[in-house]
Amino acid sequence: MSRETSYDVLVVGAGAAGLMAAWEAAKRGRNVLIADHAKKPGEKIRISGGGRCNFTNMHCTPDAFLSENPHFCRSALSRYTQWDFVELVAEAGLAYHEKTLGQLFLDGSARAIVDLLVDGATGAGATLRMAAPVMIPERDEKGFRAEVGGEIVRASHVVVATGGKSIPKMGATGWGYDVARRYGLRVTDTRPALVPLTLDEDAKERLKSLVGVAVPARTAHSGTSFDEAVLFTHRGLSGPAILQVSSYWREGEDVTLDLSPGAPVLDALRAARAQNGRQTPRTALASLLPKSLAATLTADMDRPLAETSNAALEILAARVHAFTVRPAGTEGYRTAEVTLGGVATEELDQKTMAARTLPGLHFVGEVVDVTGWLGGYNFQWAWSSGWAAGQAV
Ligand code: FDA
Repeated sequence: MSRETSYDVLVVGAGAAGLMAAWEAAKRGRNVLIADHAKKPGEKIRISGGGRCNFTNMHCTPDAFLSENPHFCRSALSRYTQWDFVELVAEAGLAYHEKTLGQLFLDGSARAIVDLLVDGATGAGATLRMAAPVMIPERDEKGFRAEVGGEIVRASHVVVATGGKSIPKMGATGWGYDVARRYGLRVTDTRPALVPLTLDEDAKERLKSLVGVAVPARTAHSGTSFDEAVLFTHRGLSGPAILQVSSYWREGEDVTLDLSPGAPVLDALRAARAQNGRQTPRTALASLLPKSLAATLTADMDRPLAETSNAALEILAARVHAFTVRPAGTEGYRTAEVTLGGVATEELDQKTMAARTLPGLHFVGEVVDVTGWLGGYNFQWAWSSGWAAGQAV
């Protein structure tokens, strides 16, 4: 019979949420094992934010999260806030800056955040075991029992911090969902989010002259709007505005972009006509938008402005302010930053992140049905939910 090692807490997943949970639990004197099947901890942190880690957002509020229950995230986010994590980063002597829209990035390498968390957790006494596959824990009268890297581990609490399904190449699995189902917990439908949208062949052909064009835009869905850049690509649409709206978009729906947010195009076109009626709508529009975009939007308008009716200008302005495409799909988990959906929030206690029906089993981070906007919100959820479980185990 193989040897059994006992811990108070087994944390599965050495990513953002798992490392935070382990650190907090170890600080409280709990005997913690963190196990991960990947070779290195915190790989998603390392590649995040273009290598600079957008570690939180100054404007983080529960409104920036999607979930079947939008109130679920309130407790953890209010008990461990963005300012708590900022303090941790500052105390570690790591320099950071606001890039835009409250997004905080390190000045240096994202690796420093991984080191901060790993050193914090192990320094507080947690044991880290990498390259250690973990079998679904079984439960008996003594607590949980799981095979970890071929050895038997016993623990009174298990924290599932295995993230979502995005970027399978980096070790993402649906393991956390399997654990939830094994214990009869509901898992909501999951889908790739914060992901580029693809276009069908016809639309790609129509928009092919725009490939590489980036333009500020406003996207709106379900009462929420985002003012960020849109990028036209060989496969379809990308850029932060598209990633944001991708979390709300569903197959068969249109995406509508305002390509001149806050700057009424009709007024500008009328003024251009009054000033110089010999120029074409294309030339006038090209002073407001990238040339190739102006050309695409005015492809059927080659008369001078002086010969262009108000009605035609209104149609052109509508094309700019309500540029509509119907995406064919998304680029999927291969490039998605996160997974929308996960372990249903009604199954969990919002204060401890533990299953209501099985209080020793906790779920934290992306595996839970809480998904943030682009901009540091997903890490903040990982820190806050990990912290909450760390206080409870
Ligand atoms: P995370 O994915 O970090 O960790 C899960 C861990 O579990 C991994 O180490 C994995 O190996 C392990 N694991 C999985 N299955 C296992 C199994 N069966 N057995 C054992 N271990 C297992 N967010 C943000 O706020 N700011 C940003 O700048 C970015 N940037 C960004 C860039 C890119 C390219 C991606 C893909 C994602 C982002 N994100 C982001 C999102 C962010 O990375 C994500 O929300 C968090 O990493 C989620 O943290 P978790 O700890 O929940 O999962």
